[in-house]
Amino acid sequence: MLKFRHSLLQALLVTTFVMHAAVAQQKPLLTKLAKEAAAASLVVGHRGASEKCPENTLAAFREAVANGAQIVEFDVYQTKDGAWVVMHDDTCDRTTDAVAHFGRKKVRVDELTLAQIRELDAGKWRGEEFAGEHVPTLAETLEAIFPACPMIERKGGDAKALAEELRRLKVLDRVIVQAFDWEWLTKFRAEESHCVLGALGGKDLTADRLKEIQGTGADFVHWDHKTLRVEDAQAIRQKGYLLCVYTVDLDMAFVGAAAMGCDFITTNRPARLVELRRNGALRRPAQPSPAGK
Ligand code: G3P
Ligand code: CA
Repeated sequence: MLKFRHSLLQALLVTTFVMHAAVAQQKPLLTKLAKEAAAASLVVGHRGASEKCPENTLAAFREAVANGAQIVEFDVYQTKDGAWVVMHDDTCDRTTDAVAHFGRKKVRVDELTLAQIRELDAGKWRGEEFAGEHVPTLAETLEAIFPACPMIERKGGDAKALAEELRRLKVLDRVIVQAFDWEWLTKFRAEESHCVLGALGGKDLTADRLKEIQGTGADFVHWDHKTLRVEDAQAIRQKGYLLCVYTVDLDMAFVGAAAMGCDFITTNRPARLVELRRNGALRRPAQPSPAGK
């Protein structure tokens, strides 16, 4: 009886391993990123190089790429007429001249058409030298970031519609998609099985939350560095996920994130993080790669 149980367990383990390996083979981007991150954490430019440039603009994305960031993060919404545009807030008030332009406050992204959003200036609020920057579309953002890896954070908009847009642009195997809304993530995964997906979170990483993440079909976990404990980082990697933390801007925290085994580190200061990576300051402890998820 014991022998039978042992063989059954062995068969289950082999099946799980084969399944994970098969899934990894279907996501070459995930395998590539995990490999590059094995020696030293990869640099994610948060909303581009947003310490230096107006966030979520083409100027910020080009700067992050020029700095050497391997991954560039940005936020997306859908406009009233279904276009995908890049913005962090659900209103245009903070990062564009929408209040002056429309003569009122709380100008929501999803109440404007793409043509209306294109009338706005998304650079001037950070200085006259950035005047003329517009709110980018998803398509032009991807073009500005490739061949680095775009990390698309869904803030608003439909899962099926985003999968369709990425399919139309033929980029599903070249981008990362992530969201705080895990139900949305599960819907997106049902639409698209090969895309690399990240589950974002910021609260305490309880066992229940980790279990919930497992139901989403995510490939990596992207957590707030202010709440992530050493034990959480270990648990995430033991479950087979890559680990990313946001938003880290200080040298001491950069080095701490690498020492805790983070595969990717999201920062507003990609130039500094790239410099540290090149200097060998982001070396990670030896650990088995979980890229078989
Ligand atoms: O990608 C992680 C980070 O961007 C999540 O926070 O508010 O900056 O979108 P937020
Ligand atoms: Ca974001």
